[in-house]
Parts: sequence; C-alpha cells; structure tokens
Amino acid sequence: MRILILGSGGREHALARAFAASPSVEALFVAPGNPGTAALGTTLDVAATNGPAVLDLVATHAIDMTVIGPEQPLVDGVADRLRNAGHAVVGPSQAAARLEGSKAFAKAFMQRCNIPTAAFKTFSAADADAARAYLDAQPVPIVVKASGLAGGKGAFVCATRQEAHDALDAIVEDRAFGTAGDQIVIEEFMTGEEASVFALTDGDRYVLLTPSQDHKAIGEGGVGPNTGGMGAYAPAPVVSGGRLTTICRTIIEPTLAGMAAEGHPYQGILYCGLMMTDAGPKVVEFNCRLGDPEAQVVLPLIANDVGDLFMQVAQGELRGTAVQARDGAAACVVLASGGYPTDYETGFPITGIEDAETVEGVHVIHAGTARADDGTLVTAGGRVCNVVGVADTLEHALERAYRGVEAIEFEGKTVRRDIGQKGLMHQTAE
Ligand code: AMP
Ligand code: GLY
Repeated sequence: MRILILGSGGREHALARAFAASPSVEALFVAPGNPGTAALGTTLDVAATNGPAVLDLVATHAIDMTVIGPEQPLVDGVADRLRNAGHAVVGPSQAAARLEGSKAFAKAFMQRCNIPTAAFKTFSAADADAARAYLDAQPVPIVVKASGLAGGKGAFVCATRQEAHDALDAIVEDRAFGTAGDQIVIEEFMTGEEASVFALTDGDRYVLLTPSQDHKAIGEGGVGPNTGGMGAYAPAPVVSGGRLTTICRTIIEPTLAGMAAEGHPYQGILYCGLMMTDAGPKVVEFNCRLGDPEAQVVLPLIANDVGDLFMQVAQGELRGTAVQARDGAAACVVLASGGYPTDYETGFPITGIEDAETVEGVHVIHAGTARADDGTLVTAGGRVCNVVGVADTLEHALERAYRGVEAIEFEGKTVRRDIGQKGLMHQTAE
C-alpha cells in the first residue's frame, strides 16, 4: 500500500521508520517531513494543515492511507476532509479531536461520563473576575490551563495563589496563547506518577500499545518549565497489569463508548495522559494522536506489520484484541537546543549521527533538523533529534541510547541525564 504521513517532527520520523519496515507498505510519502523522513520516503512540500492541498496529494500520488501525526491538522478537520472524499485515514474527526483541542470540552465530557479526572471548573476569559474569585477560594497547589491548543505549554502547575493569578493574567490579559485562552480550566492538583497509554481504535474496538512514560520538564528530577517532552521509555512498569485493566475499564472504554453515544465516534489514536493517584488512575489530559517522544519508544516495540495494523484502524475493521508486543524495552533521549523551551538559536551544524547509529540497537530520529544550502545538517528547532536505544531490558536500552547521545554534537546540546530512572526504580522495588 501507498502511505502518506502528515507532519514533520520526531513522531513522524518514528512513524515513517515503522512503515518503512512494514512488509505491506510499498511506497511512503511524508508532508512536509524532515531530513530524517527524507531518507525513508518521498518528501512533499505541503503543510500538514493545508486540507485542500493534502487532498490533492492523496489523489495525485494514489495514496491508500493517510496517517495524521500532529494535533493541529486533526483539530482543523483535515481527517474529515479526506474521509468525506472516501479516503482511508488514521486520525479522529474534528468533532472527536475536541478531546485534545478543547480542555473545557474534554473535562465536561469526562464529567458526563464519570471518567476519573481532577476536579475542575471552566471559565471564559471574558469572566476572568469569576476565575480570580474561584482561585482565591481554592487550596494550593492548583493548576491553571488555557483550554485550547498551546503546544504543551498552556498548563501551569502553581505552588502559590500568586503564581496562579500570574498564570491567569498571562492567559487572559497578555493573551499569551491567543484564542487558545478564550476559555480557562482551573483544576485540582493531583499527585502521583504520570504515564502515557495509547489506544488504537476503529471507533468501536481498540488495541493498546505498550504503556510509556514521558519526561516533560526541562530539568533533571522533573524541575523547571514543561517542554514538549525530553525523553521517554517503554514499557513503563508504573502501569502494571492490574492498573492497565483499570485504565481500560474506567477510562478508555467509557471514553470510546461516550464519544460514540454522543455522535462522534473516535477513530485513530487516543492518547491518555494519566496520573497514578492514590485513588487510582486519573486522566490528566487526552490527546488525539501519538505522543512525541513516546511514539519513538512505542512503535519499535510493535511486532505486527504496522501498515496492516493502521489500515485496520482506518477501515473500521480492527481485528484481534491486542497488538503483538516485542520483548524488551526502548528508551529515547531528546537532544534539545540550548535555552529550549524558551529562547534558543538555530542553524548550528550537527555532527555524529552516523557514529551514534553504529552503537548496537541505536537509531536516531530527526525532529528540529534541516539541510543548509550546502547540504550540512543543522539545528532548526527546540527539540533537535532523538537517540533511541532498543534492547532486552530498560537498563540496556538506556545504556545504548546514552552511548549514542555522546556521539552527537552541536552547539548548545541539552540533554536530561535521568531518562528512565523512575522505571529502573520500579524494577529495583519489585
Ligand atoms: P497538560 O497540558 O494538561 O497535559 O498538562 C501538562 C503537565 O502539567 C502534565 O503532564 C502534568 O505534569 C501537569 N499537570 C496538568 N494537570 C495537572 C493536575 N491536575 N495535577 C497535577 N499536575 C498536572
Ligand atoms: N509528549 C507529550 C505530547 O506529545 O503531548
């Protein structure tokens, strides 16, 4: 089959790598792609959010299935445009993608369906005074969020009331997230370990990918501002077998049933961002796509033909009740630009990717990279590239990934050294 992947980040390179290794895939196209995807398929110079142009690509290149990587095209309705024209797509409709595109919608939906999540209240920016009064009556820590898409940066965990008011001001007065701040969600602060669980669903049936864990903060030990994600590993032992069953029964199944009952069946990848609280697993957020960098560690652990598996999802014919998981573990370390996630410079030459890939079990995924006019690979974003190690155990996967990390250099290279430590601690405790 002929596959089109939309997007240009690490997740999309990881998807391209999985499809390139899939026996059922005969041709791969990526729009707009990156230098990593360019080595695996044909790069098409079209923005993932440009629905009419994407529809043209699907016709011109006789695409059998389109896989939409990032959230923005899903929230913009690109999946509907393709599906309405009769094409196979992996990704939810615009209405279903509101689970990510509007935290106000997602929280109200969870409340309607009795899905465990933090207690909350939603306010419109026009009624910020009511939000301020509510904040003053709540205990701290407390969490203030812009409801709309904010690139992972619109959630503020506030230790003090003053911080919460500052966060609110940034959203409603400074309009730091534009119209994404038209509504605000104020949430109870939850404690526990986080994990990411992905369900591949055809709208009715679902299968789970191996649970993983992201590392959102820029600093080791989870300190400092949140980023898009600084590393990941899978499997995540914090999601033990019993907990996974609870997550299916109390979160995934009611979500899919609720969306279908409300007339918006969810087809594609449901990303459950979860907190393992003392009262059981609760939803931190839903996303309508694979995580980045979680995709980099969950995709290499799928033993199925990924093209065939995704086509079952796209055609509403998911067979089987489980994905075939490979034994072992995968770890991903993100190499970011100096100053990320706030201010950083780009355009620095990157060396050593080929050397990193000589380490057994290691491959490098591109994210914010670009080719300069003379062909040199240079930095072009906050998260530059990812080193992925796959091995028989988490410990070995991490060792491999960090050996790869040493081989790659660029000015300002920033790496968290503690990826996977929580996973190793669980194993020691067991
Ligand atoms: P979100 O964009 O909603 O996923 O939030 C980003 C990050 O903020 C999450 O991954 C958590 O680490 C943290 N966070 C969000 N909501 C809460 C909450 N209610 N309690 C504690 N931490 C939270
Ligand atoms: N890794 C977090 C995300 O993809 O939203």
